Amino acid sequence: MSDRDLKLGIFLQGGGGHWRDPAVAPDGAADIRTYIEAARVGDQAKLDFGFIADSAYISQDSTWPLLSRLEPMTALSAISSVTDHLGLVGTFTTSYSEPFTTARQLASLDKISGGRVGWNAVTSALEGVARNHGGQTLYDHAERYRIADEYIRVVKGLWNSWEDDAFVRDVAANRYVDFDKMHTLDHKGEYFGVQGPLNIERSAQGHPVVFQAGASEAGRDLAARQADAVFSTWTSHGDLASARENYVDWKRRAESYGRNPDHLLILPSITPIVGSTRAQAQEIYEESIRYDDINHALKYLSRYFSFYDFSRFDLDKPLPELGDIGANSFKSTAEYYLRTAKERNLTLRQLALEAANPPGEFVGTATDIADKLSDFFVGGAVDGVILGGTIANIRRFLDDVLPILEDRGLRSGDRTGTTLRENLGLPFPVNTHTRQRVGV
Ligand SMILES: Cc1cc2nc3c(=O)[nH]c(=O)nc-3n(C[C@H](O)[C@H](O)[C@H](O)COP(=O)(O)O)c2cc1C
Repeated sequence: MSDRDLKLGIFLQGGGGHWRDPAVAPDGAADIRTYIEAARVGDQAKLDFGFIADSAYISQDSTWPLLSRLEPMTALSAISSVTDHLGLVGTFTTSYSEPFTTARQLASLDKISGGRVGWNAVTSALEGVARNHGGQTLYDHAERYRIADEYIRVVKGLWNSWEDDAFVRDVAANRYVDFDKMHTLDHKGEYFGVQGPLNIERSAQGHPVVFQAGASEAGRDLAARQADAVFSTWTSHGDLASARENYVDWKRRAESYGRNPDHLLILPSITPIVGSTRAQAQEIYEESIRYDDINHALKYLSRYFSFYDFSRFDLDKPLPELGDIGANSFKSTAEYYLRTAKERNLTLRQLALEAANPPGEFVGTATDIADKLSDFFVGGAVDGVILGGTIANIRRFLDDVLPILEDRGLRSGDRTGTTLRENLGLPFPVNTHTRQRVGV
């Protein structure tokens, strides 16, 4: 029996899978019913959270699920009213928005949902996002992370505007509020000036949980300073030894900022495909990639390089040396693709197809998948995973793999928490002003 508890999330975005797959709704990315179906599956299985990714730029080079998709805040608001337990994590950028608005909307959704909200704070890696927000060029990578750091500090500061017991609402005494427990931020920084206070009180979980998905040096450092949880890719973890190294690096960084490393959770994404036999699971995987084609795969790959034009290269030859293209985009992911192509002498076709359809790390029988997850969890390489793929495949995971994980004591089936923090085993964030006043 482990004293840790494996965390589980689920992608809500339109159900996952290829739009041409008969098991997938072709318009799922823009249809709230598909998100709600995934959320209900997660809610019933008492998963810890559902997640919606986002970005704010498309062109004819974008892949199909991005061309028309629901904005996370509005989608999560709808989902919150049809779920009871599931945490609701949405992506909101720190590069082209105002921290006051973000703090307010997230805090408001946190109240609506009874303290179930999480914020995936991203820095936006596509050049075109700048052009949709009054700019021409994207801030450079290092500056985006400096902005993000100040932005998150401002948002957290605003979330501390009111102490938990500030709103007295004593009808008999005609006393609505205790203004001694209201705090104005008065932030004047390098990038933002925000007076505050925020016009909404704290929620049942204090304030939303902060997630971060950057994996470069700057991204890791930001997560270590500011985040409660890290989203990562399974490929960046590799084998158990390198996944462990990666995990320890994140935890050490958190410690170096005076934090408890247990309060920074590492959660890679996986796409599990469970079969009655290994051969059957492999068949399901191969069927799922049958719908893909090289044009889609090239678009998928090039987005990580801010839509770099790979069409100038021969599809069936290894990529030439390309220097640091991607350094100002999804930096660590772009570096990973170039590195793996070089190390394994992949052709452009092979690289693109593999990027768009990551080789099935979790394709097998329920026991195979439970074994692999156990190895990585017990081996100290992950704190949990987010489940992606089609709803049919996720259901199979929940029916067949989850009971094994529970039987092995890796995850408790008894999930009584009502807030996202409770689901994730994170402590309640005592309001900074209350802490100063009572000296804790
Ligand atoms: C599971 C996961 C989810 C992500 N979701 C988003 C997202 O919704 N929007 C976005 O712009 N970037 C998203 N990213 C990308 C990261 O924010 C980041 O740009 C990328 O990991 C590269 O990090 P780096 O710039 O620190 O190298 C996600 C990454 C991962 C691993």
